[in-house]
Amino acid sequence: MDLSKRLQKVSEMVPMCHTVADIGTDHGFALISLLKKGKIKKGIASDNKAMPLEKARRNSEEEGQSEFMSFRLGSGFETLEPGEANGAILAGMGGILMVELLESAQAVVEKLDFLLLQPAQNPEILRKYLYQNHFEIMDEELVQEERRFYEYFLVRKSENTVDFYPSICDYSIGNILLEKKHPLLHVYIESKIQELAVISEKIHGTTENAKMKMERLNHKMRELRRVKDEYLC
Ligand SMILES: C[S@@+](CC[C@H](N)C(=O)[O-])C[C@H]1O[C@@H](n2cnc3c(N)ncnc32)[C@H](O)[C@@H]1O
Repeated sequence: MDLSKRLQKVSEMVPMCHTVADIGTDHGFALISLLKKGKIKKGIASDNKAMPLEKARRNSEEEGQSEFMSFRLGSGFETLEPGEANGAILAGMGGILMVELLESAQAVVEKLDFLLLQPAQNPEILRKYLYQNHFEIMDEELVQEERRFYEYFLVRKSENTVDFYPSICDYSIGNILLEKKHPLLHVYIESKIQELAVISEKIHGTTENAKMKMERLNHKMRELRRVKDEYLC
């Protein structure tokens, strides 16, 4: 089983524990890898579609791990009882969907010791939700695989008051990534600036709306440059 760099980081960041649920498991590789490394004893593979779940079952049989896994069909956390798993993985789905799934399953989420979240898109929307909804951010990570960047959040819902995490550039930069001066952050921020520059080239016209959009983009690009120069040089 060849694990992508993106999934290797998921498997690396999941803390050692008894049971982990992988919501949106698809191929099941994250759990299979955790079981093979001996980091977990049981994996709950969950997906809202039958075909991916079947794929996970086949892969787990091929890798000799099926007896340590259960396979559940359903959306998000609805396949889990509160307290049944120590932690959960949500990887490879969009940040907006992740927010919806977390928000609609608070009873289950509150009982988890950790959640490892790796959004495929809109990490800033997920970050804003986590920062504003009493999640303790235990770690943040960043991986580059080919031309894409992937962000990771290791979090838990806290009953206690959690640290205040300020928004950096509209939640697009992680506080922990910045604190640890993550080695990829410089090039990640530069890629965000380039993306905004491409968008700004497509804005034409002199309407108020166009001017406002341009001003917002320019402001964000200036802020990203400031963070890059001030904190990472
Ligand atoms: C792109 S795959 C990611 C697979 C794997 N987690 C990874 O990171 O490689 C997304 C998976 O999420 C599943 N999915 C989408 N919406 C879901 C939902 N509401 N609940 C559970 N699974 C969902 C899809 O069926 C698909 O198998």
